[in-house]
Amino acid sequence: MDLDKLMSKHLTRYFDGSKTIPEETLQQLLRFLRSAPSSVNVQPNHFYVLSTEAGKRKLATNLGERFQDNAEKVMNASHAMILTTRTEVPEEHMDAVFAKEREDGRFPDPATQVLWESMTRDFLNIRNTKYQDLNHWMEKQTYMALGMTMMAAAELGIDATPLEGFDRDTVDEAFGIRETGYTTTVLMALGYPDPAKVYGTPISRFHPDRLFTFL
Ligand SMILES: Cc1cc2nc3c(=O)[nH]c(=O)nc-3n(C[C@H](O)[C@H](O)[C@H](O)COP(=O)(O)O)c2cc1C
Repeated sequence: MDLDKLMSKHLTRYFDGSKTIPEETLQQLLRFLRSAPSSVNVQPNHFYVLSTEAGKRKLATNLGERFQDNAEKVMNASHAMILTTRTEVPEEHMDAVFAKEREDGRFPDPATQVLWESMTRDFLNIRNTKYQDLNHWMEKQTYMALGMTMMAAAELGIDATPLEGFDRDTVDEAFGIRETGYTTTVLMALGYPDPAKVYGTPISRFHPDRLFTFL
């Protein structure tokens, strides 16, 4: 990965609609996304991967009135992704997490798994009662997966642009997401830039003095 290139590059706003991510490259990116860690391994996500014209159109036409400028990005992207997050953490979800951890042999012995499960339930309980930020906390996990996937995409030569310009209600409704216990957190357009419309201007960020404190 060329970090110098990455840190001087604008996020892609104009995708080349004629280019498609090769299937094996896409699958590698999805394998990477699947491996993204989350706090207490809660794995609060479900991802919709839209590769067909019809799938992308469904998203593009349901972004909400105010966010029409993102429709072209969705349509010209090779793939668009809807990153959704659980709205709650029902018992059944944590049971499934723990069952999979046991199946995968995450811990070297059953006693450690049992201890881990109790610590995890305690942690979730604190989030729910003391901090009361369960949704926000889960969406933070989603954003970490988003950031990691953007970096992985760069490594694979794919441009990834996150999109917050959408109406959550219309997207959820169009794809029937709420009824599954999830809600849309953020979108991601994946593909290749239109070379005729790549910004060549410098990126604008605060001076390091404003960002870093060295002690
Ligand atoms: C979380 C996130 C959401 C974003 N949502 C949108 C979006 O909905 N539409 C869009 O055109 N750009 C979107 N962007 C791009 C930012 O506006 C852009 O990265 C920022 O203005 C800096 O510009 P630069 O990437 O050209 O340096 C988003 C970026 C991030 C990180």
